[in-house]
Amino acid sequence: MEKKSQERERFSTGLAVFFATLSSAVGLGNIWKFPYLTGNYGGGAFLLIYFICIVLVALPVMISEMYIGRKTRKNPIGAIAAIKSRGPWKIIGYMGILSAFFILFFYSSVAGWVYSYIFKALSGTFANSSYKELDNIFNKTASSPVAPIIWQFVAIIVVASILVLGVKKGIERMTKVLMPVLLILIIICDIRALTLPGAMQGVAFIFKVDFSSITKEVILMALGLSFFKLSLGMGTIITYGSYFTSDNNMIATAGKVAVSDTIVSLLAGIAIFPAVFSFGMTPQQGPGLLFKTIPLVFSKVPFGGVLIVLFFVLSAIAATTAMLSMLEVVVTYFVEEKKVSRRKAVLLCSTIVLVIGTFVTMSQNGANPVSKIKPFGLSLFDFFDQASSNVLLPLGGLLIALFAGYVIDKKDMKTELSNYGELKNKKLIRIYTFLVRYITPVLLFIVFMSMIGVWG
Ligand code: PFF
Repeated sequence: MEKKSQERERFSTGLAVFFATLSSAVGLGNIWKFPYLTGNYGGGAFLLIYFICIVLVALPVMISEMYIGRKTRKNPIGAIAAIKSRGPWKIIGYMGILSAFFILFFYSSVAGWVYSYIFKALSGTFANSSYKELDNIFNKTASSPVAPIIWQFVAIIVVASILVLGVKKGIERMTKVLMPVLLILIIICDIRALTLPGAMQGVAFIFKVDFSSITKEVILMALGLSFFKLSLGMGTIITYGSYFTSDNNMIATAGKVAVSDTIVSLLAGIAIFPAVFSFGMTPQQGPGLLFKTIPLVFSKVPFGGVLIVLFFVLSAIAATTAMLSMLEVVVTYFVEEKKVSRRKAVLLCSTIVLVIGTFVTMSQNGANPVSKIKPFGLSLFDFFDQASSNVLLPLGGLLIALFAGYVIDKKDMKTELSNYGELKNKKLIRIYTFLVRYITPVLLFIVFMSMIGVWG
């Protein structure tokens, strides 16, 4: 007989909580966004601004999400409703579900490219290729009619098969192994990169301090990045928070995750840029950096063939564990609010991602009629990317901050964040309460306004 009401799962230890939350934060953002932005917008100066954004904006939202999740032990929609059943606040949960799907539609496409590059690297496809050849390989990878869709399927099936196993046997077991593996792989790449001739120029690119390149736009970019990086504003951390152990020190966990995620981003930068400079290339952002520059420069260094494989394996790990956390948001919603079994929910959600994701991947192929569909003048790929990063996430974050600052009972928040008085962190709680009421929402409002100002 099927068990009707299964006990809600939780992570088993503090370490599991840390690795799972970190595995959501660490993703493709660490590899193709963060190092480039840091290098191009003032190095150490950008880092300083990024840290300020983390403290003033990202951490307060992260702690709020953790509180909402652990307090209610529910999915984002159920969690918000459990705290405040009336009024418009439930929209936070619905927007979260929408954002999770939107990000998955294009992120799974990129994850598919990453998976395919592991096998291309293994078969030596990149050896001795020129930049032009690598450009061709990438264009073919992204815009072939069938192959990218199959790889996207593979990436989604891997994520779905882990999620079917549940919170402990799936998410916890995988992330506890994969996070340390990822770290070891990055460090191996770092050691190789730092021993290249001229490596220090690459390191200087990331760490030089140049305040003159900091403009208003750069500050906004750092704010947006801190948000996307830490998977905030869409209920991911509410969902993972709902699995936290009751004795977890949530403020400390949030801090540790933010610091570790930034370290991973810097280590990725250190793995990439020395080689880029060593071969006289100019750093670039996005797919170009990951899929063209990296195969090009790594193929020229001794043991580079192995290095390319390792680098794409670690990128695939990062992409996969980030996707786990996004899909889990929608899966828990269906399990708890629509009362379907976990297995069915995973099947349903991954099918939705597969179907719409296929259209997103097809939109990259100019010969396919799907590429003519242009909501707001954007390709489907760019539409889902921009609608989530520029609109849904900052708006979601703003609403979460307002909800935490003005709707949630302050006393209860204190009790929960101090684990019923067990932790001696009164001062930190006071700082958090001040930020989440007066600083975080104001800054997020500014970001949101500027983001929709550039919309279209
Ligand atoms: N934090 C991930 C990255 O940096 O790639 C992206 C992400 C994951 C965003 C999960 C949002 C999310 F819910």
